Amino acid sequence: MKEQLKKIEELAVSELSSCTEIKALDELRIKYLGKKGELTAILKQMGKLSAEERPVIGQLANKVRADIEETLNNKLAAIKANAQAEKIAKESIDITLPGKKQTIGNLHPLTIVENEIKDIFMGMGFNIADGPEIDDDYHVFEALNLPPDHPARDTQDTFYISDNILLRTQTSSVQVHVMENQKPPIRIISPGRVYRSDAVDATHSPIFHQIEGLVVDKGIKMSDLKGTLEMLMKKLYGNDCKLRFRPHHFPFTEPSCEVDISCYMCGGKGCSVCKGEGFIELLGAGMVHPKVLEGCGIDSNVYSGFAFGLGLERMVTARYDISDMRLLYENDMRFLKQF
Ligand code: PHE
Repeated sequence: MKEQLKKIEELAVSELSSCTEIKALDELRIKYLGKKGELTAILKQMGKLSAEERPVIGQLANKVRADIEETLNNKLAAIKANAQAEKIAKESIDITLPGKKQTIGNLHPLTIVENEIKDIFMGMGFNIADGPEIDDDYHVFEALNLPPDHPARDTQDTFYISDNILLRTQTSSVQVHVMENQKPPIRIISPGRVYRSDAVDATHSPIFHQIEGLVVDKGIKMSDLKGTLEMLMKKLYGNDCKLRFRPHHFPFTEPSCEVDISCYMCGGKGCSVCKGEGFIELLGAGMVHPKVLEGCGIDSNVYSGFAFGLGLERMVTARYDISDMRLLYENDMRFLKQF
């Protein structure tokens, strides 16, 4: 019986050592330690033994059971640990690998300055008005006191869709749309794209942007225009910025002026940026012509107003010291990333 017990232990240990799965391990547990297992079968024969042999064999049988159990449990722990390690290895991610770079865009310089200008005007109680880029001759020219044969039309040649429908050359057309639909007091700015049949060079483009301003109310004077523009320029270019108003002519304003700011480069002394002038031309403005008011159904004896139109590109190139306006449209990332 001793031999049989030793044999069982040896066999069990060798079978267990080559076992790699929990299911197989369970089967071996039943085979050796179960109620109908090999060890139990032997213990059942203990009755045949003599009184001296019985405790010896009993002890040995217990030791064999304990040994097999221990081997089984160790094996079970080893298989579980192995499975865990395998799972971790399979599911692990290499956090040292470089990730995919997310490139976050930034606003275009035209948008940055436009937003700033909008903020400044909203702070002064202006609303933002929108108008069509494709408009009719009446709103772009005629209602602005530019009848068909007016010579000032020559400087604003544009792209015609039909004889009457065209791409707007100036945001001043929005003045007419607003005054047709709204009674004074009016206080709006209107940023947007405008078109002119111009050849592309460092300071010209067939598409560019203007921001129109319009105020109509009782008692609006030229000094209101001056104060508003001074506030805008000082906020944009700093408190040292000086404004220069020069007489000019626009058919839709009377009197009219052009407005320059002191050169941001030299502060007014004269340099290559301002071409020795000390000032840089930024916008056109004036008091809304009574004919324009009347044409939109506003009584010019009761109401007066001022209007201005500034070129956004010029504001941006002046702001960031950009020498060629074409850079704003080429979408070269090396340029755009700088803002
Ligand atoms: N629309 C004019 C231009 O494009 C600018 C302007 C606007 C002048 C409003 C006076 C008043 O040149």
